[in-house]
Amino acid sequence: MPTPSEYLNQASVIIVTGGSSGIGCSIIKAIKIVSPDVCLCNLSRSKPEVFLGENGHHIGVDLSDASALAAAAEQLQRIIEVAPLGKVVLVNNSGYGDYGRMPDLDIGKQLNMIDLNVRAVVDLTTRLLPQLLERGGAIVNIASTSAFQPTPFLATYGATKAFVLNWTLALNEDLRGTSVRALAICPGPTRSNFYKSAGFESPPMNSGANATLDMTADEVAEYTLSALAKGRSFIVTGWKNKCIAFFGSKFPIVTVTRIGGIILRKLRLEQHKGNS
Ligand SMILES: NC(=O)c1ccc[n+]([C@@H]2O[C@H](COP(=O)([O-])OP(=O)(O)OC[C@H]3O[C@@H](n4cnc5c(N)ncnc54)[C@H](OP(=O)(O)O)[C@@H]3O)[C@@H](O)[C@H]2O)c1
Repeated sequence: MPTPSEYLNQASVIIVTGGSSGIGCSIIKAIKIVSPDVCLCNLSRSKPEVFLGENGHHIGVDLSDASALAAAAEQLQRIIEVAPLGKVVLVNNSGYGDYGRMPDLDIGKQLNMIDLNVRAVVDLTTRLLPQLLERGGAIVNIASTSAFQPTPFLATYGATKAFVLNWTLALNEDLRGTSVRALAICPGPTRSNFYKSAGFESPPMNSGANATLDMTADEVAEYTLSALAKGRSFIVTGWKNKCIAFFGSKFPIVTVTRIGGIILRKLRLEQHKGNS
């Protein structure tokens, strides 16, 4: 079983979406430590503060915009074409949530979220897959523990992550027998800008029962690279999140939705901007 460093050293190009903050930024930092010379490409609207290395590229792009994504994918295809032989790894990490009760939420933001969390993942992966199949490599998609059960007050977000989880597992089977595999990462609450962009005053894990559930983005990055090296197709980060995912997927779906609604309504009342 290769270590993360052994695995990453076989890669010639690593592409990360959303490396300007949070989990994506931590993944970039972790890759740079073990593989400083790899051609590391970041795709996000703002430039990451972390230096991508001499061979690195930042492609400024709004991935929810289909034509901007197509142009960025062409740029990546040219970068891969001239890169030395080696695996290509694509980490689809960009994403956001939007907390609140339907139909009070901004429909534009909901639809844009589907474009980013779902359409962009399928589109970018499909465009780069021929080159990944030529060179070997992996597709790593950041899903969430929200993928295991319906998530009231995060209804659209949870459904996008259920899509990402199911699509990734099915893709991994489609790719069986090739030199490319797909891996779904399911983090639970993680300290990042996610909660701010989802409309919370402060991360819900800063108080109450959630206080013990949170993880740092660096920890999620460590789980991700370790799972990639081990050839896993799916992981939930940490044993507490594993328990939640287990109950979320094993109990009757109507019951877990109801319980989720009660918990998330409480968070919404206490911490959501819209109700402060
Ligand atoms: N934090 C959690 O609790 C948690 C839990 C489970 C799963 N996740 C998932 O983890 C992933 C990373 O989130 P995070 O927690 O690290 O949040 P974050 O700190 O808010 O990072 C989100 C990243 O996505 C990028 N992004 C947002 N809109 C984009 C767009 N239109 N085009 C391109 N890139 C865009 C952002 O870059 P720019 O703003 O510069 O474009 C940023 O780099 C997401 O898919 C999220 O759903 C997070």
